[in-house]
Amino acid sequence: MADGPALLRADTVEVRHHGHAILRGVSLDARAGRVLALLGPSGAGKTSLFRVLVGEERPARGRVLFEARDVTREPLWRRARRGVGYLPQGPSVLFDLTVEENLATYAAIVGRPRRELAELAARFELGAHFGKRAGELSGGERRRLELARALCARPRVLVCDEPFSGVDPAGSERLARLLRALAIEDGVAVVLADHHVVESLAIADEVALMLDGVIEMRGTPEEFQRHPAAQGRYLGHWRETLPPA
Ligand SMILES: Nc1ncnc2c1ncn2[C@@H]1O[C@H](COP(=O)(O)OP(=O)(O)OP(=O)(O)O)[C@@H](O)[C@H]1O
Ligand SMILES: [Mg+2]
Repeated sequence: MADGPALLRADTVEVRHHGHAILRGVSLDARAGRVLALLGPSGAGKTSLFRVLVGEERPARGRVLFEARDVTREPLWRRARRGVGYLPQGPSVLFDLTVEENLATYAAIVGRPRRELAELAARFELGAHFGKRAGELSGGERRRLELARALCARPRVLVCDEPFSGVDPAGSERLARLLRALAIEDGVAVVLADHHVVESLAIADEVALMLDGVIEMRGTPEEFQRHPAAQGRYLGHWRETLPPA
């Protein structure tokens, strides 16, 4: 498959917390029309890298480029306007507002017409919950709202931190298809981190394995499944339950 242009790129990024090196010279790029899965054990640094990519955290060293422009010092909202969408790992809805109000608030910020929100909600099976407070949603419903909100801005890059967490199996499958369609049909550069390995590998064009703050390997899902470090440090015996590479 031909490579699309690199839209968002981390270039030798370093992050430190309390004197500990969390990211140690990480380079990674998200390409238009491609799904990149960033996989690795808890604590490896996936969320830390995403926070740097979207503008929630400044790296101690290194740069972030959006379409070759240095955006390292730009805040999250400015990168969002450029087309960087973000689904954070933790809950990020406004709990006291309804589903509709949550979407409308974000739509107003990014300039999406309110009349299009019902369709967006329907796409994420949120239509029946439109008037419900976000704080009353189930975990999976809330995740769908957070993703719908991230898509309000029609992002060109979508950074998804554990999109499948809390979503039931059939819902995860639908969500995986939707993320794949965003890349294939809309040309979005999708980057995701998730421990739902089956769903992630099924839709990924490429996989990067992160261990201890470095990218240990990058390759096809098949190369990932065969890689000794992926098998030993991350998958453990679960590798035997994966569909054959
Ligand atoms: N603000 C912070 N202060 C101190 N340590 C931090 C901070 N943010 C992250 N860390 C540490 O950095 C390391 C990487 O965390 P990170 O959240 O990036 O991991 P992760 O790969 O996303 O893990 P998971 O799969 O569990 O989500 C962890 O050891 C974490 O404790
Ligand atoms: Mg994380």
